[in-house]
Amino acid sequence: MEKLVDRYGREIRSLRFSVTRRCNLRCFYCHNEGEPLDPKGEISVEMAAAIVSVALKHFGVRKVKFSGGEPLMRADFVDIVASLPKGLSDVSMTTNGVLLRKYAKKLAAAGLRRVNISLDTLNEEKYDFITGTKGNLQKVLDGVVAAVEAGLTPVKLNMVLLRGVNDDEVPKMMEFVRECSRDGVVKLQLIELMDFKGDLKEFAVDFSEVEHRLRAVASAAITRKLHRRRIYVVDGVEVEVVRPMDNTEFCKNCTRLRVTSDGRLKPCLLRNDNLVRINSTDEEEIKAKLKLAASRRAPFYAGSL
Ligand code: 5AD
Repeated sequence: MEKLVDRYGREIRSLRFSVTRRCNLRCFYCHNEGEPLDPKGEISVEMAAAIVSVALKHFGVRKVKFSGGEPLMRADFVDIVASLPKGLSDVSMTTNGVLLRKYAKKLAAAGLRRVNISLDTLNEEKYDFITGTKGNLQKVLDGVVAAVEAGLTPVKLNMVLLRGVNDDEVPKMMEFVRECSRDGVVKLQLIELMDFKGDLKEFAVDFSEVEHRLRAVASAAITRKLHRRRIYVVDGVEVEVVRPMDNTEFCKNCTRLRVTSDGRLKPCLLRNDNLVRINSTDEEEIKAKLKLAASRRAPFYAGSL
């Protein structure tokens, strides 16, 4: 089978859809998945399904991830999942979890395998501060439980570390993971803040220190190939460290192609000047546009390849 490979020899192995720009939270640091500011509507269920089908059938792409905005803001998100072709190896979503309790079982039945849930803090005041909303933390915690019960596992909790806000909560979060996780099905991801505009400097956390502390208490340390991520095992809890900004390998190991909420192929999270519009759900059209988007992929971080 033909593969989607870019000029730098990087093969595209996964699709990452933003299905809406809408969100019920307003996290002050959110990069909105690098979404363009001029969206023209939202991608249809049919188009999402057609893109995945062509990528799977012609290029062997077997992994799909959905994000937003918040995917569950779309009333038809379950339909999107249900419309995907058979034969995918991984179908996951990143959600803020606020609406997850209601949808977890339906999503699992529709074919979703697992979820990443954004959860930066277990403190209600801090949660309200970070998300610019009130009273949502408990809904998210219920959502975590619902995801575990529905078997959307491993459930990964995304915790973006913010200096002076939640950087003292890592042990508490590990304890929470241990409590709500039977058989290690809940994992923690510590994510380095990406500061595209340079307005988040005061929140930057020294990750070398964080990792130093983890290494001291970990029983094992593993390195994942994608983005050279490190995983520490602490009292049976897996803690993965995600450091996009500091990682010279971030681009080198990128095997993703993104799709914007209005259905344009997006070769790089950090750029919006090379998007590829798809004009119809026609198989040949999508195939050609996937190739074009792959050919436009270029490493963003200078010197990383
Ligand atoms: N830096 C790092 N991660 C971010 N996310 C959103 N904005 C940023 C940022 N500025 C990630 C978080 C969140 C997911 C939806 O996107 O991990 O959980």
